[in-house]
Amino acid sequence: SLLQRNETERRNESKQSTGQRGPHRVQVTTPRSVNYHFTRQCNYKCGFCFHTAKTSFVLPIEEAKRGLQLLKQAGMEKINFSGGEPFLHQRGVFLGEMVRYCKQELELPSVSIVSNGSMIKESWFQQYGDYLDILAISCDSFDEETNRAIGRTQGRKSHLDNLYKVRNWCRMYKVAFKINSVINTFNVHEDMIEHIASLNPVRWKVFQCLLIEGENAGGNSLREAEKFVISDQEFQDFLDRHRSIECLVPESNQKMRDSYLILDEYMRFLDCRAGRKDPSKSILDVGVEEAIKFSGFDEKMFLKRGGKYIWSKADMKLDW
Ligand SMILES: C[S@@+](CC[C@H](N)C(=O)[O-])C[C@H]1O[C@@H](n2cnc3c(N)ncnc32)[C@H](O)[C@@H]1O
Ligand code: SF4
Repeated sequence: SLLQRNETERRNESKQSTGQRGPHRVQVTTPRSVNYHFTRQCNYKCGFCFHTAKTSFVLPIEEAKRGLQLLKQAGMEKINFSGGEPFLHQRGVFLGEMVRYCKQELELPSVSIVSNGSMIKESWFQQYGDYLDILAISCDSFDEETNRAIGRTQGRKSHLDNLYKVRNWCRMYKVAFKINSVINTFNVHEDMIEHIASLNPVRWKVFQCLLIEGENAGGNSLREAEKFVISDQEFQDFLDRHRSIECLVPESNQKMRDSYLILDEYMRFLDCRAGRKDPSKSILDVGVEEAIKFSGFDEKMFLKRGGKYIWSKADMKLDW
């Protein structure tokens, strides 16, 4: 398809984001694509979660906007809002304001969200849908029992009903729809082909369940995800079973660990290289260039996993 061909072309583009700057010609990383986990609070309890509710802190909106502007000045082209559950804080108004700000005022080519989908209202799409390029909803199973066993649920709500509801709103309000799935011991043998085909996402990200010390593994973590972990071979078998799905983008542990630029709730870059998340200083205190030196971001891996793809809805040729 056109989308895929363009993606391959972009993947092969020479990278432009490390430049030689200043008298000492040090390598400077440009934060082209940033994941801002602005809240750690969540209404779900996924047992494998690697970004847990260690604080309840959220920046004031004006500070968050200032940070986003700093990132834009440093070369950011794509922002992804994540968490925790991003629609939880101020019932989605905080998130909506940031989405609108990034598209309308900063004019970022790509603004996206990753959400569990359970807190989104149609009125949110009416108010903010125009400013959003991509909405990714996480779904690890098409069996309600499995979702409950994983903890991807709240009370009696059906995760799958929400998923299909949000999928339709994306169609109605012209937001590109994506799915994220974490492959773990509970869903590793599932066949998701039919459901994924009928939901027809622009991208299906398939993650191998990852352990991060201090988040979902080791002492003083809020989750113990060891029982969810699968082997590289089990992950490969899942991918092989789903190879007919063209939009599938696999992310093994190795690929995932170093290829994301993560900003936490204080706007500190998190360095995952050591298998845990070590924070830098906040970009609000020391600026982007200083903070990013400690981010552990592996730009080669970012490009290798296809981190740069068609990320503006204006550039997508899609049947809504
Ligand atoms: C931490 S969540 C935050 C956004 C939102 N609450 C959600 O679940 O989509 C961001 C993404 O990370 C994925 N994720 C969480 N724990 C993971 C793990 N241990 N390994 C791989 N992916 C994981 C989630 O499924 C989700 O797609
Ligand atoms: S992965 Fe689950 S527990 Fe973690 S933030 Fe997302 S919905 Fe919440």
